[in-house]
Amino acid sequence: MQKLKEAILAKGKAVNQDVLLVDSFLNHQVDVALMRDVGDAFAAYFAGRGITRVVTIESSGIAPASFTALAMGLPLVVMKKQTSRIMKGDLLQTTVRSFTKGTQYELTAKRDFLPEGERLLLIDDFLASGEAAFGVLNLAKQAGCEVAGVGIVIEKAFQPGHDRLCEAGVDVCSLARVKAMSEKGIEFID
Ligand code: G4P
Repeated sequence: MQKLKEAILAKGKAVNQDVLLVDSFLNHQVDVALMRDVGDAFAAYFAGRGITRVVTIESSGIAPASFTALAMGLPLVVMKKQTSRIMKGDLLQTTVRSFTKGTQYELTAKRDFLPEGERLLLIDDFLASGEAAFGVLNLAKQAGCEVAGVGIVIEKAFQPGHDRLCEAGVDVCSLARVKAMSEKGIEFID
């Protein structure tokens, strides 16, 4: 997606060869007009695939996932990284490890919001190793749902997430695929 690549080049900063800072339009301050276009692009790519529900993981996936759900006219479910005392009912959980952040969390969703037989579209901001996406695949399986597609705003193509998901038979659409990056610049795969 040209507009997204232009935003990454103009406003993104490669902290090092592995981490891209995009907090001026995606992770902290949010360019909602760009996110609306991102949502439209995912809606166009995943149209006609029988998707019934959009899912994401809090927090940075929420903006692109909201616009995708709006464009597709579908409900959105935000999976949680932590539970609270008011989160009651039949909960589905799986542990997700983040290699980038060196953390782990219990990915959690209420079974009520993932009814059996739904076809899910996962939208997320970044794809690195694919751990978060595999966590969602795991919860979907527990719920009796299928992940019919994964839409990623920025994929770090030099990390294994994309290949791992493709090998698992998942249809992945990444709007910007970063081939390599350094302080000198950011290169994309066309
Ligand atoms: P994976 O799920 O593909 O394996 O990714 P990984 O564990 O390595 O990274 C998980 C977290 O790190 C996610 O944020 C993801 O957005 C973020 N992340 C990964 N690579 C980058 C990067 O190059 N730049 C930035 N800015 N973030 C990156 P999260 O913990 O879910 O946080 P958030 O959604 O609350 O922002």
